[in-house]
Amino acid sequence: MNTRRIALIPAAGIGSRFGSELPKQYVQIGEKTVLQHTLDVFAANERIDHIAVVISPDDSYFDVLINLPHNGSVHRVGGSSRAQSVFNGVNELVDLGIATLSDSILVHDAARCCLPQTALNRLLDHTEHNYNGGILALPVADTLKQQNAHQHIARTVSRVGMWQAQTPQLFQAALLQRALANVNLNHITDEASAVEQLGISPMLVEGDSRNIKLTRADDAALVAFLLTQM
Ligand code: C5P
Repeated sequence: MNTRRIALIPAAGIGSRFGSELPKQYVQIGEKTVLQHTLDVFAANERIDHIAVVISPDDSYFDVLINLPHNGSVHRVGGSSRAQSVFNGVNELVDLGIATLSDSILVHDAARCCLPQTALNRLLDHTEHNYNGGILALPVADTLKQQNAHQHIARTVSRVGMWQAQTPQLFQAALLQRALANVNLNHITDEASAVEQLGISPMLVEGDSRNIKLTRADDAALVAFLLTQM
């Protein structure tokens, strides 16, 4: 059967660490909003069949600020956590018949707007025949410190074999639904960790240091620079 690749972009967060009135996905950097940059990365890749955005039910910015790609859909089913937004989104995609259970879902943070096409294609290439799915990630470069109760160093943690998770994270819709139905959605910070709890090991595919998540206001200058390099 011919399976399709569907990008699922959770964009229902309020971005409390970013510290602006406007949710960070709607902040303009360069010519466009952060979310628009992100959507346009997927729209420019011919291997992506559909782009679904999950926003908050009371979002008042999307319709004004965003041009939905011609192969896109918007879903006002955002929840109280990122994982809840993703779960609601994938369920709605399946219920509406936009996705079948065997389609591949690529979950990608709205706030990672500098995703290079090379990294996206690498994930698609490596996960094509892989039932476990896979994620973009980078080997940890810095030395890792565990803190004690006084924020002094308790010990040094080996960085050997340690990776930092990025997105997209790609799974078959059926696996993603099963994994997210099985966990406390307020306690997980990425989809892979839900899949791991089923005893399945998703593949680690080398990401890209440019694929950063806009988190704090002072990340904006770096994101603006990276966007000029894409
Ligand atoms: O807050 P954080 O940067 O971890 O959010 C990652 C992504 O998840 C963002 O794109 C954000 O909009 C989205 N999110 C969501 N629903 C929430 C919280 C976050 O869709 N309740």
